[in-house]
Amino acid sequence: MEGKNVLITGGSQGLGRALGRSLARRGHRVVLVARGQEALDRVVQEIREEGGVAHGVVADLGDQEAIYPLAGQAAALIGPIEVLVHNASTLGPTPLRLLMDTECEDLLHTLEVNLVGPFRLTKALAGHMALVGRGLVLHVSSDAAIQAYPRWGAYGVSKAALDHLSRTWAAELAEAGVRVLAIDPGEMDTAMHQAAMPEADRTQLPDPIQVAARLVQVIEAPARWPSGGRVVLSEVRS
Ligand SMILES: NC(=O)c1ccc[n+]([C@@H]2O[C@H](COP(=O)([O-])OP(=O)(O)OC[C@H]3O[C@@H](n4cnc5c(N)ncnc54)[C@H](OP(=O)(O)O)[C@@H]3O)[C@@H](O)[C@H]2O)c1
Repeated sequence: MEGKNVLITGGSQGLGRALGRSLARRGHRVVLVARGQEALDRVVQEIREEGGVAHGVVADLGDQEAIYPLAGQAAALIGPIEVLVHNASTLGPTPLRLLMDTECEDLLHTLEVNLVGPFRLTKALAGHMALVGRGLVLHVSSDAAIQAYPRWGAYGVSKAALDHLSRTWAAELAEAGVRVLAIDPGEMDTAMHQAAMPEADRTQLPDPIQVAARLVQVIEAPARWPSGGRVVLSEVRS
Protein backbone atom coordinates (compact mmCIF):
# COMPACT_ATOMS: atom_id res chain seq x y z
CA MET A 1 0.00 0.00 0.00
CA GLU A 2 1.07 3.60 -0.56
CA GLY A 3 2.88 5.11 2.44
CA LYS A 4 0.94 7.67 4.42
CA ASN A 5 2.05 10.83 6.22
CA VAL A 6 1.41 10.16 9.90
CA LEU A 7 1.76 12.47 12.90
CA ILE A 8 2.00 10.67 16.27
CA THR A 9 1.97 12.64 19.51
CA GLY A 10 3.87 11.05 22.38
CA GLY A 11 6.22 9.32 19.97
CA SER A 12 9.36 9.07 22.10
CA GLN A 13 8.48 6.01 24.19
CA GLY A 14 5.81 3.43 24.93
CA LEU A 15 3.04 2.94 22.41
CA GLY A 16 3.93 6.01 20.33
CA ARG A 17 7.51 4.83 19.79
CA ALA A 18 6.39 1.29 18.93
CA LEU A 19 3.79 2.62 16.51
CA GLY A 20 6.24 4.99 14.82
CA ARG A 21 8.74 2.19 14.29
CA SER A 22 6.10 -0.26 13.00
CA LEU A 23 4.60 2.25 10.58
CA ALA A 24 7.98 3.39 9.25
CA ARG A 25 8.98 -0.23 8.60
CA ARG A 26 5.88 -0.51 6.41
CA GLY A 27 6.79 2.55 4.34
CA HIS A 28 4.77 5.23 6.09
CA ARG A 29 6.42 8.58 6.87
CA VAL A 30 6.17 9.64 10.51
CA VAL A 31 6.52 12.80 12.56
CA LEU A 32 6.87 12.04 16.25
CA VAL A 33 6.09 14.62 18.93
CA ALA A 34 7.20 14.77 22.58
CA ARG A 35 8.58 17.29 25.08
CA GLY A 36 11.92 15.60 25.66
CA GLN A 37 14.39 16.09 22.82
CA GLU A 38 16.85 13.30 23.67
CA ALA A 39 14.44 10.37 23.73
CA LEU A 40 12.77 11.70 20.59
CA ASP A 41 16.11 11.93 18.76
CA ARG A 42 16.89 8.34 19.75
CA VAL A 43 13.67 7.00 18.22
CA VAL A 44 14.13 9.04 15.04
CA GLN A 45 17.65 7.66 14.77
CA GLU A 46 16.43 4.05 15.32
CA ILE A 47 13.88 4.44 12.53
CA ARG A 48 16.32 6.04 10.10
CA GLU A 49 18.87 3.28 10.72
CA GLU A 50 16.18 0.81 9.62
CA GLY A 51 15.67 2.83 6.43
CA GLY A 52 12.45 4.56 7.51
CA VAL A 53 11.41 8.18 7.17
CA ALA A 54 11.00 9.87 10.56
CA HIS A 55 11.28 13.32 12.07
CA GLY A 56 10.94 14.54 15.63
CA VAL A 57 9.26 17.75 16.73
CA VAL A 58 9.62 18.91 20.31
CA ALA A 59 6.34 20.35 21.58
CA ASP A 60 4.15 20.33 24.67
CA LEU A 61 0.55 19.40 23.83
CA GLY A 62 -0.58 21.38 26.85
CA ASP A 63 0.91 24.59 25.44
CA GLN A 64 -1.60 26.51 23.33
CA GLU A 65 1.16 28.41 21.52
CA ALA A 66 2.88 25.19 20.43
CA ILE A 67 0.04 23.64 18.43
CA TYR A 68 -0.13 25.62 15.17
CA PRO A 69 3.68 25.75 14.79
CA LEU A 70 3.74 21.97 15.38
CA ALA A 71 1.09 21.39 12.71
CA GLY A 72 2.96 23.59 10.21
CA GLN A 73 6.32 21.99 10.95
CA ALA A 74 4.97 18.46 10.59
CA ALA A 75 3.44 19.20 7.19
CA ALA A 76 6.62 20.95 6.05
CA LEU A 77 8.66 17.87 7.01
CA ILE A 78 6.62 15.06 5.41
CA GLY A 79 3.79 16.73 3.47
CA PRO A 80 0.09 17.09 4.33
CA ILE A 81 -0.78 14.96 7.36
CA GLU A 82 -3.11 12.12 6.33
CA VAL A 83 -3.25 10.28 9.66
CA LEU A 84 -3.21 12.01 13.05
CA VAL A 85 -2.69 9.85 16.15
CA HIS A 86 -3.45 11.60 19.44
CA ASN A 87 -1.42 9.33 21.69
CA ALA A 88 0.41 11.62 24.16
CA SER A 89 -1.21 11.73 27.54
CA THR A 90 -0.65 12.59 31.18
CA LEU A 91 -1.97 10.78 34.24
CA GLY A 92 -1.78 13.95 36.30
CA PRO A 93 0.20 13.77 39.55
CA THR A 94 1.29 10.33 40.73
CA PRO A 95 0.73 8.47 43.01
CA LEU A 96 -2.80 8.74 41.64
CA ARG A 97 -5.15 10.37 44.09
CA LEU A 98 -8.80 10.53 45.05
CA LEU A 99 -10.89 13.35 43.55
CA MET A 100 -11.19 14.89 47.01
CA ASP A 101 -7.38 15.23 47.08
CA THR A 102 -7.05 16.44 43.47
CA GLU A 103 -6.16 20.10 42.99
CA CYS A 104 -8.35 21.95 40.47
CA GLU A 105 -5.15 23.04 38.71
CA ASP A 106 -4.09 19.41 38.27
CA LEU A 107 -7.46 18.51 36.75
CA LEU A 108 -7.17 21.52 34.44
CA HIS A 109 -3.67 20.56 33.34
CA THR A 110 -4.75 16.96 32.65
CA LEU A 111 -7.60 18.28 30.49
CA GLU A 112 -5.23 20.70 28.68
CA VAL A 113 -2.87 17.88 27.67
CA ASN A 114 -5.31 15.00 27.12
CA LEU A 115 -8.29 16.84 25.66
CA VAL A 116 -7.71 20.45 24.65
CA GLY A 117 -4.32 19.79 23.00
CA PRO A 118 -5.78 17.08 20.74
CA PHE A 119 -8.76 19.33 19.98
CA ARG A 120 -6.46 22.17 18.93
CA LEU A 121 -4.27 19.91 16.84
CA THR A 122 -7.23 18.37 15.02
CA LYS A 123 -8.52 21.88 14.32
CA ALA A 124 -5.14 22.75 12.84
CA LEU A 125 -4.92 19.67 10.60
CA ALA A 126 -8.41 18.43 9.76
CA GLY A 127 -9.21 21.39 7.50
CA HIS A 128 -6.78 20.12 4.90
CA MET A 129 -8.08 16.56 5.29
CA ALA A 130 -11.61 17.81 4.64
CA LEU A 131 -10.40 19.81 1.64
CA VAL A 132 -8.94 16.73 -0.06
CA GLY A 133 -11.86 14.55 1.10
CA ARG A 134 -9.94 12.00 3.17
CA GLY A 135 -8.05 11.60 6.42
CA LEU A 136 -7.97 9.65 9.65
CA VAL A 137 -7.89 10.96 13.22
CA LEU A 138 -7.32 8.52 16.08
CA HIS A 139 -7.78 9.36 19.77
CA VAL A 140 -5.95 6.96 22.08
CA SER A 141 -8.29 6.47 25.00
CA SER A 142 -8.46 4.04 27.91
CA ASP A 143 -10.91 1.78 29.70
CA ALA A 144 -10.76 4.48 32.40
CA ALA A 145 -12.97 6.50 30.02
CA ILE A 146 -15.78 4.01 30.71
CA GLN A 147 -15.06 2.46 34.12
CA ALA A 148 -14.89 4.77 37.15
CA TYR A 149 -11.79 3.58 38.99
CA PRO A 150 -11.09 5.25 42.34
CA ARG A 151 -7.96 7.49 42.07
CA TRP A 152 -8.11 7.65 38.26
CA GLY A 153 -10.57 10.57 38.27
CA ALA A 154 -8.72 13.36 36.43
CA TYR A 155 -7.32 10.99 33.80
CA GLY A 156 -10.62 9.09 33.42
CA VAL A 157 -12.61 12.30 32.99
CA SER A 158 -10.17 13.50 30.32
CA LYS A 159 -10.41 10.22 28.41
CA ALA A 160 -14.23 10.11 28.66
CA ALA A 161 -14.33 13.62 27.21
CA LEU A 162 -11.82 12.60 24.53
CA ASP A 163 -14.12 9.72 23.51
CA HIS A 164 -17.02 12.12 23.09
CA LEU A 165 -14.84 14.61 21.25
CA SER A 166 -13.97 11.74 18.91
CA ARG A 167 -17.64 10.87 18.31
CA THR A 168 -18.54 14.51 17.69
CA TRP A 169 -15.67 15.15 15.26
CA ALA A 170 -16.75 11.98 13.44
CA ALA A 171 -20.32 13.22 13.10
CA GLU A 172 -19.21 16.64 11.89
CA LEU A 173 -16.53 15.41 9.47
CA ALA A 174 -18.40 12.41 8.03
CA GLU A 175 -19.51 14.20 4.87
CA ALA A 176 -16.00 15.56 4.32
CA GLY A 177 -14.59 12.02 4.16
CA VAL A 178 -12.54 12.28 7.36
CA ARG A 179 -12.80 9.21 9.60
CA VAL A 180 -12.40 9.55 13.38
CA LEU A 181 -11.99 6.71 15.89
CA ALA A 182 -11.30 6.29 19.59
CA ILE A 183 -8.79 3.55 20.40
CA ASP A 184 -8.64 1.54 23.62
CA PRO A 185 -5.13 0.06 23.61
CA GLY A 186 -5.58 -1.99 26.78
CA GLU A 187 -2.87 -2.34 29.40
CA MET A 188 0.76 -2.21 28.21
CA ASP A 189 4.17 -2.41 29.81
CA THR A 190 5.14 1.26 29.57
CA ALA A 191 6.45 4.07 31.77
CA MET A 192 2.90 5.33 32.20
CA HIS A 193 1.70 1.97 33.48
CA GLN A 194 4.62 1.79 35.88
CA ALA A 195 3.91 5.29 37.18
CA ALA A 196 0.24 4.47 37.71
CA MET A 197 0.64 0.95 39.10
CA PRO A 198 4.22 0.40 40.30
CA GLU A 199 3.20 -2.81 42.06
CA ALA A 200 1.90 -4.49 38.86
CA ASP A 201 3.63 -7.61 37.54
CA ARG A 202 5.22 -6.30 34.34
CA THR A 203 5.75 -9.81 32.98
CA GLN A 204 1.95 -10.12 32.63
CA LEU A 205 1.58 -6.96 30.54
CA PRO A 206 1.67 -6.88 26.73
CA ASP A 207 4.64 -5.21 25.11
CA PRO A 208 3.57 -2.00 23.32
CA ILE A 209 5.01 -3.51 20.10
CA GLN A 210 2.20 -6.11 20.12
CA VAL A 211 -0.39 -3.39 20.67
CA ALA A 212 1.13 -1.19 17.96
CA ALA A 213 0.81 -4.07 15.46
CA ARG A 214 -2.97 -4.02 15.97
CA LEU A 215 -3.08 -0.25 15.69
CA VAL A 216 -1.24 -0.47 12.36
CA GLN A 217 -4.10 -2.67 11.11
CA VAL A 218 -6.60 0.04 12.05
CA ILE A 219 -4.52 2.73 10.33
CA GLU A 220 -4.18 0.70 7.14
CA ALA A 221 -7.85 -0.39 6.95
CA PRO A 222 -9.89 2.11 8.99
CA ALA A 223 -13.08 1.47 7.01
CA ARG A 224 -13.46 -1.83 8.91
CA TRP A 225 -14.84 0.29 11.78
CA PRO A 226 -17.67 2.83 11.60
CA SER A 227 -16.37 6.37 11.97
CA GLY A 228 -17.10 7.63 15.48
CA GLY A 229 -16.61 4.16 16.94
CA ARG A 230 -14.38 2.93 19.73
CA VAL A 231 -11.91 0.24 18.78
CA VAL A 232 -10.74 -2.11 21.54
CA LEU A 233 -7.37 -3.23 20.20
CA SER A 234 -7.38 -6.57 22.04
CA GLU A 235 -10.42 -7.49 19.88
CA VAL A 236 -8.77 -6.59 16.55
CA ARG A 237 -8.05 -9.67 14.41
CA SER A 238 -6.10 -9.66 11.17
N1 LIG B 1 0.17 2.01 29.29
C1 LIG B 1 -1.04 1.57 29.49
O1 LIG B 1 -1.26 0.53 30.14
C2 LIG B 1 -2.23 2.31 28.88
C3 LIG B 1 -3.51 1.81 29.09
C4 LIG B 1 -4.60 2.47 28.52
C5 LIG B 1 -4.40 3.60 27.74
N2 LIG B 1 -3.13 4.07 27.54
C6 LIG B 1 -2.95 5.25 26.69
O2 LIG B 1 -2.03 4.93 25.66
C7 LIG B 1 -1.32 6.13 25.26
C8 LIG B 1 0.18 5.87 25.30
O3 LIG B 1 0.53 5.55 26.63
P1 LIG B 1 1.99 5.02 27.04
O4 LIG B 1 1.75 4.08 28.17
O5 LIG B 1 2.74 4.61 25.83
O6 LIG B 1 2.61 6.37 27.67
P2 LIG B 1 4.11 6.74 28.05
O7 LIG B 1 5.00 5.56 27.98
O8 LIG B 1 4.02 7.53 29.31
O9 LIG B 1 4.52 7.74 26.85
C9 LIG B 1 3.88 8.98 26.74
C10 LIG B 1 4.46 9.75 25.59
O10 LIG B 1 3.77 11.00 25.51
C11 LIG B 1 4.72 12.08 25.60
N3 LIG B 1 4.06 13.18 26.31
C12 LIG B 1 3.59 13.18 27.58
N4 LIG B 1 3.09 14.38 27.88
C13 LIG B 1 3.23 15.15 26.77
C14 LIG B 1 2.92 16.50 26.46
N5 LIG B 1 2.37 17.32 27.37
N6 LIG B 1 3.22 16.98 25.22
C15 LIG B 1 3.79 16.17 24.30
N7 LIG B 1 4.11 14.88 24.53
C16 LIG B 1 3.84 14.38 25.76
C17 LIG B 1 5.92 11.48 26.35
O11 LIG B 1 7.15 12.14 26.06
P3 LIG B 1 7.64 13.42 26.95
O12 LIG B 1 7.44 13.05 28.38
O13 LIG B 1 9.07 13.62 26.56
O14 LIG B 1 6.77 14.55 26.52
C18 LIG B 1 5.94 10.08 25.73
O15 LIG B 1 6.53 10.10 24.45
C19 LIG B 1 -1.78 7.23 26.21
O16 LIG B 1 -2.79 7.99 25.61
C20 LIG B 1 -2.37 6.46 27.40
O17 LIG B 1 -3.33 7.20 28.09
C21 LIG B 1 -2.04 3.46 28.10
